[in-house]
Amino acid sequence: MIERTKEFPTLTIIRHPLVQHKLTIMRSRETPTKIFKELVDEIAMLMAYEATIDLSVEPLDVQTPLETMVGRHISGKKLTLVPILRAGLGMVDAMLELMPTAQVWHLGLFRDERTLRPVEYYNKLPDSAAVDLCLILDPMLATGGSATAAIDVLKRWGAVQPVRIKLLNLIAAPEGVRAVQEAHPDVPIYAAALDRQLNDKGYIMPGLGDAGDRQFGTGGS
Ligand code: PRP
Ligand code: URA
Repeated sequence: MIERTKEFPTLTIIRHPLVQHKLTIMRSRETPTKIFKELVDEIAMLMAYEATIDLSVEPLDVQTPLETMVGRHISGKKLTLVPILRAGLGMVDAMLELMPTAQVWHLGLFRDERTLRPVEYYNKLPDSAAVDLCLILDPMLATGGSATAAIDVLKRWGAVQPVRIKLLNLIAAPEGVRAVQEAHPDVPIYAAALDRQLNDKGYIMPGLGDAGDRQFGTGGS
C-alpha cells in the first residue's frame, strides 16, 4: 500500500498497516532502545520490499521434485547499501537478510548542530565497482542536507545512470523531500511517513527525536 503526492513526485510513502503500526511504537518516547532498534530493523525490511519492486528478473530453469519449470531470479544485479552513519546502520542488517550479496559502503555524515549542514567524516566507498542499484539508508530526512550530500558523493564517485540511486528513510520532513527532489530529481525517495515540518532546531515534528541517540542509547536521561 503506497501513496504518492502531486507536490512530491519522487516520494513514495509506504502506508502498509504493519509499517504504520511499528512506526507508531517507535515514535513513542516510552519505547526503550532495544525495542526501538528492533523496529528500525523490521520497518527497513518491510520497506525493502517496496523499494526493490522494480528489480528485473530473468528466467531460470529449476528442477522441482516433480518436474522442471522456468522460475525467475535476480541475476547478477549488483546491489549496494549505503548507510549514512550512525543512524543508517540500524537499517543494514534487515536489508542484508533480503539481499545477502549486497555490498555495504559506509558513509559518515553528521549534522553540524549550529548550521544544520552535513559534515563528512568517513567514506568507505570502493575505488571502483560495478553497481546496478545503490540504496542509501538513513532513518531521518530532515533538512535534506545529509541525503543530498550522500547522493552528491555517490554521483561524484560515478554512480550515475544507468546506475540507479534510491533513498530510503523512515520519516521524512517536507523540507527535506523538497531539497532532495530539487537537487536530485532522478533519485526516488521511499519513506514510511511524511511528517508536518521541522522545528527551529531542525528536528522533524512530530518525528521520533534523534534517531541515532535512540538507537545507540546516547540521548542522556
Ligand atoms: C541524523 C539523521 C540524518 C540527519 C538528517 O543524523 O540520521 O543523517 O540527521 O538530517 P538532515 O536531513 O537535516 O541532514 P545525525 O547528524 O544526527 O548523526 P547521527 O546519525 O550520528 O546521530
Ligand atoms: N535527525 C534526527 O535524528 N531526528 C530529526 O528529527 C532530525 C534529524
